[in-house]
Amino acid sequence: MHDIKSMKREIPVFEVPDAFSKRATIAGMGVYNALCAEAEKDYEGFWARLARGNLFWSRPFTQALDESNAPFYRWFGDGQLNASYNCLDRNLQTGNGDKAAILFEADDGALTRVTYRELHAKVCRFANALKSLGVSGGDRVVIYLPMSIEGVVAMQACARIGAIHSVVFGGFSAKALQERIADLGAVLLITADEQMRAGKVLPLKSIADEALTMGGCESVRHVVVYRRTGNRIEWIENRDRWMHEISASQPETCEAEPVDAEHPLFVLYTSGSTGRPKGVQHSTAGYLLWAMLTMQWTFDIKPEDVFWCTADIGWITGHTYIAYGPLAAGATQIMFEGVPTYPNAGRFWEMISRHRVSIFYTAPTAIRSLIKAADANPQVRPSRYDLTSLRLLGTVGEPINPDTWQWYHHHIGSDRCPIVDTFWQTETGGHMIAPLPGATPLVPGSCTLPLPGIMASVVDESGQALPDGSGGILAIRRPWPSMIRTIWGDPERFRQSYFPAELGGNLYLAGDGAIRDKDNGYFTITGRIDDVLNVSGHRMGTMEIESALVAHPLVAEAAVVGRADEVTGEAICAFVVLKRECPLGGEARQLAGDLRKWVGEQIGPIAKPKDIRFGDNLPKTRSGKIMRRLLRSLAKGETITQDVSTLENPAILEQLGEAF
Ligand code: WT7
Repeated sequence: MHDIKSMKREIPVFEVPDAFSKRATIAGMGVYNALCAEAEKDYEGFWARLARGNLFWSRPFTQALDESNAPFYRWFGDGQLNASYNCLDRNLQTGNGDKAAILFEADDGALTRVTYRELHAKVCRFANALKSLGVSGGDRVVIYLPMSIEGVVAMQACARIGAIHSVVFGGFSAKALQERIADLGAVLLITADEQMRAGKVLPLKSIADEALTMGGCESVRHVVVYRRTGNRIEWIENRDRWMHEISASQPETCEAEPVDAEHPLFVLYTSGSTGRPKGVQHSTAGYLLWAMLTMQWTFDIKPEDVFWCTADIGWITGHTYIAYGPLAAGATQIMFEGVPTYPNAGRFWEMISRHRVSIFYTAPTAIRSLIKAADANPQVRPSRYDLTSLRLLGTVGEPINPDTWQWYHHHIGSDRCPIVDTFWQTETGGHMIAPLPGATPLVPGSCTLPLPGIMASVVDESGQALPDGSGGILAIRRPWPSMIRTIWGDPERFRQSYFPAELGGNLYLAGDGAIRDKDNGYFTITGRIDDVLNVSGHRMGTMEIESALVAHPLVAEAAVVGRADEVTGEAICAFVVLKRECPLGGEARQLAGDLRKWVGEQIGPIAKPKDIRFGDNLPKTRSGKIMRRLLRSLAKGETITQDVSTLENPAILEQLGEAF
């Protein structure tokens, strides 16, 4: 594990604005403390009350939590419900039928609006179409779609019939898609003809076709294609179907299939420090409950809000805070196909103004790149846009540095809107540590306090709680409803990754370092303590990138580390040993370009290393272990002052210093 340092900085505190707390769902620390005390006193009773009050159950549960087979916890185990019913039908019953559910703005600005009634009909039609293709409860459906209303329809339609969806981010390569399809034994793949991104066309269907010819995908019976651009694509008769054609003839109602509370709602792959990406399996009831509650608590959602989460549905944020949470909460939300810098870096601010967005949720990396753009080009400065509709801002995905936080607060929030810095993970299903905007005084750079019912601690390597003020490992002491249930097909890996025996076997290990403030108990996340990188809020295992590099015919060995980057948070730096002589100058540049392209094909463009450095060898100890600590210093451009006496081959350090 890396060094865990403790940090102490003098940073201002931002009190909750009165106007905000007056109307807030959690109006003040008194309400927060009361909820925490309730959870502390009767943990199961607390969750049972919330689950009864927030979800519609087809069959009520009698037991909230079953810990008999820990860490394979079961929540609300004997209850039954349907997630799509809770997101759609319930809104028709409560008078939200004609309310806008999604306003979708395409890359070119074209707007599509669907009401809850229309979304319900679309989901029902498509659910019927899936059934007509033989998809049934428990089947896995892989969704490889661009940001679109159809993406949400596909997810909701799976949930409606009890099929398990797995969304693969549209930026992933054919190989990454193939691995996920094969791991799941999926029966159906839903994709689009093409994807639009910043005015450019990306060929999704042809990548999907390629994935299906790579082997291991024989379980796929049909490919359903959403027509986005209408350009010509390859077509395989009998296998391929147009989404609009198979939906058109279907009835616009479809019974929502009640499933067990623990029925997997979806599997979403994420990176770990070792091995292949892990299929994180989430439940139906616990997951949906937390999606709903955090919409109310962290986002303080109100009927008149216009909510915009800028994440992609290919990541957990797009699942919880686009496809499920806002719908379960009956909110109106904005969905965006494009990128924040197209047609210019004022796009976010312009859209906030155009749609009168009141709650805006994005990633620190996006904010940092827009700060840079606004500095360079006065035309896209936020002050040029009407941002008065905003009342709450949020961030997610990586630590937000206090300067960026303060820029966001001042320039976007006019010093008026609270910022919720939400710490959570693919595995946690929803927010874990985050301010409650009507209660929690804010400290830039801190995600503040655990949400009610979340028992977070900072512990040492043996699982012992550390005193406040000293940095350690972030752990969660009790199971919570929306936690990961298992890794698809690999329960042992689930146990070892998240409930390591070294920590006693009953603490959930987040993989992050944290420090809890001595004075106010606020948490600050200090970053990953494993070999996982966070590049522009995208999570990647160093080993995955190393495996991709060594799969190249010329590469003998590779080691990947992260280095700090002003815009992307971390940047990928790869150290490569070739099977032939170490290249120099122009040849090295050429090869570095080839390797970047190769990694893009193996995983996806987001995994392309920023720096590539060649050497005759990697710095290793005499027992052959790569000294990553040294590589991290080299990546930063530091001169090595550390002790290198255990190093087998010190001369290598100089050679590896130069980036291509
Ligand atoms: C990792 C999880 C949560 C959805 C998006 C990312 C980092 C996430 C914060 C935050 C500091 C954060 C952690 C975490 N992270 N949010 N507010 N402050 N770090 O989900 O891909 O599963 O990544 O992102 O390192 O472990 P993910």
